[in-house]
Amino acid sequence: MSTDKQPDFKTREVHAGVTPDPVTGAILTPIYQSTTYVQESVDKYLEKGYSYSRSANPTVVALEDRITALEGGAGTACFATGMAATSATMMALMNAGDHAVLSDVVYGGTHRFSTRVLSRFGVEYSFVDTSDADNVKAAIKDNTKLIFTETPANPTLKLTDIAAVSEVAQAHGLPHVVDNTFLTPYYQRPLELGADISLHSTTKFMEGHNITVGGSITAKSQEQLDAIVFVRNCLGSNMSPMVAFYTLQGCKTMSTRLETQSANALKVARFLETHPMAERVTYLGLDSFPQKELADSQASGHGSMLWFEVKGGVESGKKLMDTLKLWSLAENLGSVESLVTHSVTMTHADIPREERMAVGITDGLVRLSVGLESPEDLIDDLKQALDGL
Ligand SMILES: Cc1ncc(COP(=O)(O)O)c(C=O)c1O
Repeated sequence: MSTDKQPDFKTREVHAGVTPDPVTGAILTPIYQSTTYVQESVDKYLEKGYSYSRSANPTVVALEDRITALEGGAGTACFATGMAATSATMMALMNAGDHAVLSDVVYGGTHRFSTRVLSRFGVEYSFVDTSDADNVKAAIKDNTKLIFTETPANPTLKLTDIAAVSEVAQAHGLPHVVDNTFLTPYYQRPLELGADISLHSTTKFMEGHNITVGGSITAKSQEQLDAIVFVRNCLGSNMSPMVAFYTLQGCKTMSTRLETQSANALKVARFLETHPMAERVTYLGLDSFPQKELADSQASGHGSMLWFEVKGGVESGKKLMDTLKLWSLAENLGSVESLVTHSVTMTHADIPREERMAVGITDGLVRLSVGLESPEDLIDDLKQALDGL
């Protein structure tokens, strides 16, 4: 192998950001569980790069370097949660009186933070169907300062054409932030498609084992990264070294997990398509997916998220969830355990009914996050629950 070749993704996800500990040779970056860092002298303050763990911590920096190696860009900042990453990014890029254009389908917490917190500080929002870049263009006003898209969107999986929206953003000199949580940099790299910032809830596929909550942003420009890190330091919404340690280990298997989980998801989706009690089965890997061409052109895989509507309304949905045995009824997604979520009562409960119905987040929507278990067992369990309705 030539020495100047950049190692492949699968090598970077295992090794990037980490070198054996210089003191002991430990192969894993230790959990630097320390508030502060002793300085050799006043003149040598910050010579080793660290002063206080709210500002920077070596275990967290190792994870940040790993994520940068996977997403590209100038650098990464990690956060206590995905919402800490979203809120710091919005606060860094906007002032009172500014306006942002957001995808009309986004994680419920992103909607909640925009409409119920930042709105109190004089920031305006337009939620538009970003699957058409012309809608984004039409929504831009004189005071627009940010375009924020989520693709695939939680929970409907609506896609935004990252390159097309980035072009609109660039033409207006606006930053385009993409929530890349559902596909990870293994399958989709927003910065390569022209976006400015790629955001993650690392809680999901990156860490992947339901151990931690965390978040990250990777920025193309050092200036934007510095502005966001400044807000993180002011808010104190940084990631803990323990969380960074778990995430460093979890993300080593991200691509392998995703490959298996995606293959499982396709089998589950195909089964659901054949079951008389399941309707509108939606998965990026199915030929029936409404934006199939875009799904295949901007991402190299389909992920493990899918949804369907159960016939028989809310009562039927509740019965289904109560009779599943292997699938856990839970809020999270992207973990090795298969999870089922009723978005309307769980992850998107705060969005007014009319608003969510208008964008396809219906009462009967059952969201599945397909894990690493045997697909046959997962299908058997779904079958017994659906047959019993
Ligand atoms: C797409 C997406 N972005 C962001 C978040 C927020 O992440 P966290 O729960 O880690 O704050 C979530 C959480 O479900 C999500 O699904």
